[in-house]
Amino acid sequence: MRKTIVAGNWKLNGESSLCNAFVDAAQSFDSRATEVLICPPAVWMMLLAEGLASSSWQVGGQNIASDKSGAFTGEISASMLQAAGATYCIVGHSERREIFGESSAVVAQKVRIAIEQNLTPIVCVGENLACREAGSAEAFVETQLLESLKGIDSDKLRNVVIAYEPIWAIGTGVTASTEQAQAMHAHIRSVLSQSIDVDGELISLLYGGSVKPSNAKELLAQNDIDGALVGGASLNVEDFLAIVEAAG
Ligand code: 13P
Repeated sequence: MRKTIVAGNWKLNGESSLCNAFVDAAQSFDSRATEVLICPPAVWMMLLAEGLASSSWQVGGQNIASDKSGAFTGEISASMLQAAGATYCIVGHSERREIFGESSAVVAQKVRIAIEQNLTPIVCVGENLACREAGSAEAFVETQLLESLKGIDSDKLRNVVIAYEPIWAIGTGVTASTEQAQAMHAHIRSVLSQSIDVDGELISLLYGGSVKPSNAKELLAQNDIDGALVGGASLNVEDFLAIVEAAG
């Protein structure tokens, strides 16, 4: 009923040679139920999209502007990403929130623009270590989720994907335990159903934070984990393919 999605987020990494390696890998990949998505730096979007066009793999942006056009030096709009071949876009990644000061209100504006432009937003939420240790992770993620989706019609939210990425697990090698990840995903699903008037059972929830071949299968076997948002391991073709395999 829900889509299984494995998405690679290259962040500020990768050259054209990495695009070519993934294009080669995708050609010999048997398409299956899992949706596979690569989010490269924007300058590689067209190259990768063209290379992957004959495969089942898709490309997505890592971020979009919160405005459609105008005097916003350095920004890239949702329509530009779509024209370059993107079908998805990560929105509100913790690195955007923490390093570039994106508020949840700005994230909500980006979610709205992505939906208008027929890009599926992958909306990221997740607490830091202090919040987890204080025992307030669920409350924090709930507030962040509600604010990041605020003002968007519930019928439009049907196509949103949510990624739970605990900040303390990103790039650290420390993965949330399957119990921690499953519990938060179940919480997110119930918040979607109870507080946002969208059927949480229909929304794909991805886990992100040090996903690697050795832990992917166990994480992805959890009832409420519908896929993975992969950082470091998505820069290596073999590791990424192993994670896709683990998704079934
Ligand atoms: P890592 O897989 O490198 O921990 O990164 C996760 C992430 O931030 C994906 O968006």
